[in-house]
Amino acid sequence: MNSIILDKKNFKKLINKAEIQGAVSELARQISEDYRGKTIICICILKGAVYFFSDLTKKIDLDIKTEFIELSSYEGALESNDVSLLKDIRSSIKGKDVLIVEDIMDTSKTLNFLIEHLESKNPRSIRICTLIDKRERRESDLKADYTGFEIEKGFVVGYGMDFNELGRNMDDIYVLEK
Ligand code: IMP
Ligand code: MG
Repeated sequence: MNSIILDKKNFKKLINKAEIQGAVSELARQISEDYRGKTIICICILKGAVYFFSDLTKKIDLDIKTEFIELSSYEGALESNDVSLLKDIRSSIKGKDVLIVEDIMDTSKTLNFLIEHLESKNPRSIRICTLIDKRERRESDLKADYTGFEIEKGFVVGYGMDFNELGRNMDDIYVLEK
């Protein structure tokens, strides 16, 4: 673990970097196949999805445009109740095929908020790609179109995901042990 602070807490390795890269390649292959011949707008949800987004988009064999959006998120391991928009995308997505790239889908509040927000901009289609689908606390029937890993529960850190803003730069994904 390349983090002194997190090393002192009880984290254990859950998904190693080879498994992550294997899943990212497979997601990129599916996406490239499904959108063959199209140009897509990939939207990265800051900050957590940034490493996943970077690896994924490099492996997608299509013409893509990138956009970045920032929404309010967790405070430590506790989430806040309302989602709010901190930074919007820059360009028009009207009539375009949009792929949202998320690090982890938990209650789904963030993605439900984002989809409503993006729909008001009249894209042709919106799909979701999430590296991790964490099912226990899901509050809607929203489903990702592309999922790297499914977990039931737990607080995970690494490969973009943070614990109080730390741990994003770790290559592997760790889970907080109770
Ligand atoms: P949701 O709105 O409950 O689906 O939460 C999604 C957001 O919360 C994600 O974009 C993450 O930023 C954050 N999040 C949820 N679970 C975790 C976790 O286990 N570790 C780090 N961040 C998480
Ligand atoms: Mg996030």
